[in-house]
Amino acid sequence: MQKLFSGVQPSGNLHIGNYLGAVKQWVALQEQSESILCVEDLHAITVPQDPEVLRKKTLEIAKIYLASGIDPAKSTLFVQSHVSAHSELAWILNTIARMGDLDKMTQYKDKSQKEGETTSIGLYDYPVLMAADILLYDTEVVPVGDDQLQHIELARTLARRFNERFGETFVVPEGRIQKEGARIMGLDDPTKKMSKSAPSEYNYISLTDDEETVLRKVKKAVTDSGTDITYSDDRPGLKNLINIYSLFGDKTPDEIVTMYEGQGYGAFKTGLASVISGFLTPFQERLAAISDDEVKAILEAGAVKARAQAEAKMKQVRERVGLL
Ligand code: TYM
Repeated sequence: MQKLFSGVQPSGNLHIGNYLGAVKQWVALQEQSESILCVEDLHAITVPQDPEVLRKKTLEIAKIYLASGIDPAKSTLFVQSHVSAHSELAWILNTIARMGDLDKMTQYKDKSQKEGETTSIGLYDYPVLMAADILLYDTEVVPVGDDQLQHIELARTLARRFNERFGETFVVPEGRIQKEGARIMGLDDPTKKMSKSAPSEYNYISLTDDEETVLRKVKKAVTDSGTDITYSDDRPGLKNLINIYSLFGDKTPDEIVTMYEGQGYGAFKTGLASVISGFLTPFQERLAAISDDEVKAILEAGAVKARAQAEAKMKQVRERVGLL
């Protein structure tokens, strides 16, 4: 079985881009993988968080994993800060990571622009902590959206560099994206990815949006000039909506184009909203049925399992590096 690791930060509202780019892949892959899925709370605090909200969001993300179909009998679910090896390995990897590696990171460039002079060292160092997450578990595959591929490239570089200097220790992981879901674009601006921190709620469909909100947002989504339904790069707004339709409706883009032949945007958008809500409504019912106590017990059991694996790897790492 291949070893899989991935995670989501408990910050902002999870949207359908997070689900389609990452979580949906995990659900499909858990049957053929030894999956370790993490709620990345230490990543979230690289920008200011309200402590009460962070605690709530951390549980909510774990509930979202479960409501999406992640089975705790098959996958290990835990909270990053519950396994202290993540921070410890991040520190050791910091000593082989170079400023030049991190200066290249486009997500840091974007986020630090927003934070201005309050930008923390943690935000800069964030990809090294992510490398530690991945490398601790001999991870082979990391299913993510394409915005994370550059970070995974760094994890690969650090694994190779450590192995060369200290001897074979880490598996070199591979990122995995899926064709249509790798980059879901903003509904209000199809040139930028859908984002948790977008200023307008018309950018995204949140996993907690009700049917009426979904319809309102889809109706307002930017489409391109023209009235027919076609799938092409020069109609990025429509292409993005067809991708979303395709992933929720389990149909290929071509099938969707054929279905809406001769019909306009109105019919297509109504159909799209109904396919999205067709997923979201039962998902939200499952989400509401999971209690805090239930999810806490799952996370506790997951942390015990993850800790054992992480500690075995750390023992090796400390020895290799020369820590007494
Ligand atoms: P985060 O929390 O920003 O996003 C979680 C996952 O959602 C994907 N994603 C998208 N996919 C498609 N279209 C979009 N518009 C879109 N927006 C987000 C992201 O690519 C990601 O897969 N650093 C990570 C969390 C992390 C992690 C890790 C991931 C920490 N350690 C180790 C994998 C392995 C992050 O901030 O993702």
